[in-house]
Amino acid sequence: MKKLLFLVIGLTISLGAAGAKKRAEQPLPADPTPRIIEIATENTAMLLTVGEKGDLLFRYYGKRIADPTPILEKRLTRRVDFCTDPQAYTAQGGREQRRASLAVTHSDGDLNTELRYVSHEVKSEKGVTTTTITTSDSKLPFDVRLVYKAYEAEDVIVAHSEITNREAGEVKLRNYYSANVALIADRYYLTQFYGQWAREMFMSETQLVKGVKTIYSQKHVRGVQLENPSFMIALDTPLNENHGNVVAGALAWTGNFDLSFEVDDFDWLNIRSGINPYSAEYSLAPGESFVTPDAIFTFSSEGSGQASRNLHDWARRDGVYNPQALRPTLLNSWEGAYFDFDAAVCKQMIDDAADMGLELFVLDDGWFGNKYPRNNARQGLGDWEVNEAKLPAGIDDIAAYAVSKGLRFGIWIEPEMISPKSELAERHPEWVVGSHNGREMTTTRQQWILDLSNPEVQDFVFGVFDRTMKLSKHISYIKWDANRHVENVGSTFLNDQEQSEFWVKYTRGLYSVYERIRKAYPDVVIQACASGGGRVEYGALKYHDEVWTSDDTDAYTRIFIQYGMSHIYPSLVMGSHVSAVPNHQTGSITPLKFRFDMAMSGRLGMELQPKDLSSEEKAFARKAIADYKELRSTINYGDLYRLHSPYDDKGYSSSMYVEKDKSRAVIFTFRFKYAGRDADCLLKLNGLDPAKRYRIREINLTDKPVFWGDGKEFSGEYLVNEGLNLSLRKVFASSVHVIEEVR
Ligand code: GLA
Repeated sequence: MKKLLFLVIGLTISLGAAGAKKRAEQPLPADPTPRIIEIATENTAMLLTVGEKGDLLFRYYGKRIADPTPILEKRLTRRVDFCTDPQAYTAQGGREQRRASLAVTHSDGDLNTELRYVSHEVKSEKGVTTTTITTSDSKLPFDVRLVYKAYEAEDVIVAHSEITNREAGEVKLRNYYSANVALIADRYYLTQFYGQWAREMFMSETQLVKGVKTIYSQKHVRGVQLENPSFMIALDTPLNENHGNVVAGALAWTGNFDLSFEVDDFDWLNIRSGINPYSAEYSLAPGESFVTPDAIFTFSSEGSGQASRNLHDWARRDGVYNPQALRPTLLNSWEGAYFDFDAAVCKQMIDDAADMGLELFVLDDGWFGNKYPRNNARQGLGDWEVNEAKLPAGIDDIAAYAVSKGLRFGIWIEPEMISPKSELAERHPEWVVGSHNGREMTTTRQQWILDLSNPEVQDFVFGVFDRTMKLSKHISYIKWDANRHVENVGSTFLNDQEQSEFWVKYTRGLYSVYERIRKAYPDVVIQACASGGGRVEYGALKYHDEVWTSDDTDAYTRIFIQYGMSHIYPSLVMGSHVSAVPNHQTGSITPLKFRFDMAMSGRLGMELQPKDLSSEEKAFARKAIADYKELRSTINYGDLYRLHSPYDDKGYSSSMYVEKDKSRAVIFTFRFKYAGRDADCLLKLNGLDPAKRYRIREINLTDKPVFWGDGKEFSGEYLVNEGLNLSLRKVFASSVHVIEEVR
């Protein structure tokens, strides 16, 4: 493994650390020679330099250059003065005119911060090199440590900042982003992932011009349906799957986020990623530090495909909880039964799930509440006791039944939420988020939200999880939902001055609950749901094994949702279910095969009443599930190559997953628009070894094979250069092909 190339030109700078309340301008570095700090992975590097005044500048992010030292001499054709080049961490103050990553009101009211390099250290462990750079304000004892973790093999750099107040009085943080990155090119194309409930992660590309473009959320909980905290920037030419320079990134924060893209006076693109400062001023007491969340970046010189593969590799190493464990296939009760079930219905569903070869049954909403039974979405949240009328023998009765049939058992909770009609609301009105100033306590889905900035509420939420787990020793999966966002913000726990800290303290409260849960229940599989799609982000994934991708289970819409999501998140975490037709969200009618083919490209599940399937349909499902279990290591851990975008005018979409050793691949292709009687889907395969020989076979067949060469042997070279022509012509025709090395 290549070692991090770290260059220090000049002598070590040693600056006094502990300072008086105010101090004189810090001395210039003993040796004025500028220095480079290279934060490098195997193929990429960020270059920071220390300027003449000790300012830390962001000079380069791109392909790794063996000898980057000329960057020290680089001068733009225009005059470069201090602070016209982007800072490594833009602080408001001095000559900085860009939107700042850091904006502070110091203890004496000074609005300026000028960060100067103090020292740095580099540590390497298990393929991750951590560079920690300490900077300090030029006048006040106020420090920022910039931490960059470079994942060498994955070509991913994860950055955050740590802000410390050593002043005599309180400092107010107004902006406290995690990191910024600056790029220089002729043109910048931003791809963002956006949507709404049941239509998440659609893609759109915009050429950035002067000004600021922002991707953000102010909704806090369930905040990522509208805009996902992730992006891809293509440099010079629009985003292409296999060509061109691309910087991609994401923020790991389960709360208000802000990713902004500013083309500045000098044509640099400044990317700033972090917590949204929207009404979120945060006070730091003397001696206190603020640690910002992880901002994730990757660079690819081979288009968006490689950028995604980098992010997936990183996620399966460090970005997702328990990445090595295969996720179970499942039947979820929601769309099959909604609130209308009893033990007999659950057991029938379990029987059918077992018969089809699924591995887990998840009992969704509706199992709890007695005074206010949860028989609809209007009441009961907060009262997490088993509904005795519906399930008199309790949860263990069903969970044990599932286990006796060879299945695992999972259950739904929504512990951050509270119904106005609940015993909990009668007991603890002070736990509800709201201004409590006589303003209207607004509801969404007839529910309120609990104030997780309050440690008592944190205990309660942990208790909900803990008590639910104790309902049966057979529970091994929790679906954690959160079906509304924050409005009418306010906390009775926080004092008047702390109200703006609610947003950060809620998320920290949530994370502290998850820390406790993960300590107590390291092996339970937890799905982040949030109305589907509302917690698809790496902050949640640190504690969750998977997400509920979208409440939209329509296989047609899922083509776009999952294609978008695949740019940033791996299929391992992508809950993808076969549901009934007409689809409950969109009304569209697609063949069962099309629905299975789609669901098998993520983490396969079913979400329907299986007794409504015919015996032929069940037989198809049985075979597809068996095949999926055999193929899922390739689908969930292989390299993703997107072969055809659903966004072009050809009306089909195709992706393939290739085993790391290139011995096996699985290709999914979906026709969703008619393009002419003779229009084949043309796929040039990717990621295969040209020197190997492969046999190709179609699975999930309901008709004759769609490729003329089905069952035949081909060289990797042929498949990559000539590829496949699939006769998928009718709307909602689809195919799954398995390609295996012939040894
Ligand atoms: C949300 C979830 C669904 C289901 C319902 C239950 O909408 O996204 O999957 O769990 O809540 O009320």
